[in-house]
Amino acid sequence: MDAKIAQLLDGKTLAEKIHSELQQRIQELHPKIGRAPGLAVLMVGDNPASAAYVRNKERVCQKVGIASFGQHFPSETTQAELEQVIQSLNQDDRVDGILVQLPLPDHLDAIALLHQIDPNKDADGLHSVNLGRLVRGERGLRSCTPAGVMRLLEEYEINLKGKQAVVVGRSILVGKPMALMLLEADATVTIAHSRSHDLAAITRNADILIAAVGRPNLITGDMVKPGAIVVDVGMNRITDDAGNFRLVGDVNFDEVKSVAEFLTPVPGGVGPMTVAILLQNTVWSYSQKS
Ligand SMILES: NC(=O)c1ccc[n+]([C@@H]2O[C@H](COP(=O)([O-])OP(=O)(O)OC[C@H]3O[C@@H](n4cnc5c(N)ncnc54)[C@H](OP(=O)(O)O)[C@@H]3O)[C@@H](O)[C@H]2O)c1
Repeated sequence: MDAKIAQLLDGKTLAEKIHSELQQRIQELHPKIGRAPGLAVLMVGDNPASAAYVRNKERVCQKVGIASFGQHFPSETTQAELEQVIQSLNQDDRVDGILVQLPLPDHLDAIALLHQIDPNKDADGLHSVNLGRLVRGERGLRSCTPAGVMRLLEEYEINLKGKQAVVVGRSILVGKPMALMLLEADATVTIAHSRSHDLAAITRNADILIAAVGRPNLITGDMVKPGAIVVDVGMNRITDDAGNFRLVGDVNFDEVKSVAEFLTPVPGGVGPMTVAILLQNTVWSYSQKS
């Protein structure tokens, strides 16, 4: 008899479904608002991974009917110049969402720039006002990656109530908001990080395990409870023996697929969901103008 293999949590297919729903929503709202929604993605410097992410965001925007107001700045652009650009986008009625593609060159202060964005146009949901709304359980723009994970779990009708959820990673981008969203869904949440003792003992306790670390294959099969739901947020570019780049997650997929009940692939899991929620946030801000 074949060993049981985890069911894949297919973020790519779900993201495409969300794109179609957004496209339809935009068509309904367009006559009332009198324009298409607009998203401005600001990129500074020439990081090739960031450039690929920005191109992808613009491609999906075009597909669903969101106008792109993206701008690409040279590496030496100053903080003051970027602040001025953000201020003018805040005032621009055609723009519903603004995001600064991270990482930024070292001389720039990313947090200070994020705080220049009007919280109602904060498509990435990373402004302190929106993070504060999440802490308080108030409506607001949610951080895209953790909100994408929650939407994926919901699609597969995974019940979180009372379950042990473990989030590995405590960044403001993923780990912390992820833990808060799981808490909001009534899971019992543990956050592990680089100073946690005996990570395997913590992760083996998880009914729902979210890895958001940035360490290829950190989570091995023996660290996972049989039947757990495992979500791999990690996106690590590694070079294989043939010298080719490959994207791998934080979870050792080949080992964990025979232990978990559900598992996200990398690529095709959380990545496309992040972009889908970014567009959903933009359309939500747009809909507030109807
Ligand atoms: N799929 C997507 O759309 C998407 C979106 C965003 C990020 N990502 C990926 O998700 C990963 C995490 O991103 P991030 O921005 O959250 O990274 P980050 O800011 O570097 O945070 C990494 C977190 O992992 C913890 N950590 C590091 N080594 C560890 C270890 N050996 N054991 C336990 N915890 C450890 C760190 O702990 P300390 O706090 O103690 O340092 C930190 O909290 C990256 O691979 C990134 O590329 C994917």
